[in-house]
Amino acid sequence: MQLQSLLIASLAALTAAQGTANVSSITCGSAKYSQQQIDDAVGEGCRLYDERRTLGNNKYPHRFNNREGLVFATSGPYQEFPIIASGNYSGGSPGADRVVIDPAFQGSCVFVGGMTHTGASTRNGFVECSEEAANQTVPGSTGGSGNDDDGLGVMVAPTFYLAASGIVASLLMAL
Ligand SMILES: *[C@@H]1O[C@H](CO)[C@@H](O)[C@H](O)[C@H]1NC(C)=O
Ligand SMILES: *[C@@H]1O[C@H](CO)[C@@H](O)[C@H](O)[C@H]1NC(C)=O
Repeated sequence: MQLQSLLIASLAALTAAQGTANVSSITCGSAKYSQQQIDDAVGEGCRLYDERRTLGNNKYPHRFNNREGLVFATSGPYQEFPIIASGNYSGGSPGADRVVIDPAFQGSCVFVGGMTHTGASTRNGFVECSEEAANQTVPGSTGGSGNDDDGLGVMVAPTFYLAASGIVASLLMAL
């Protein structure tokens, strides 16, 4: 019972993090993108994916296999699509920054995170962009002694946590 509710709580944390409803912006290196810019890039990436079309020499959107082991809001599989300073990517140089999309999360194509070459340890590597919250919706952030406390120290289904957002994951680690 305890375990079951924990799993449900984990799943809630997992599903709460996808999409941009609670994301005001992402910061990739020194570049910051608004929710509107994210939605545009995700919308365009999803549209192209849906139409089985790609843009540019590197054929975006394309599969991102996440050998880096970055943490995104769903477990994937993922597609990556460039996010650029102005307008939608339309071919040409993709720049350093990407939105990461899960094209089939519960039947929808959704934003699951941002990533960038800026600051990566290898030339073709990626690191996650940081995410700024639109609202204070991080589970447990409203009063550390709330409901979320019990059981979070129990070791359950690490893959859930792997798939959850970095914030959630590090919160859980801290407990
Ligand atoms: C956004 O936050 C609200 C309020 O905390 C929550 O109910 C909702 O599920 C969240 N939406 C997403 C997509 O995470
Ligand atoms: C970017 O693409 C999306 C989805 O196709 C579209 O809704 C949006 O208007 C485009 N934005 C710009 C600036 O062209």
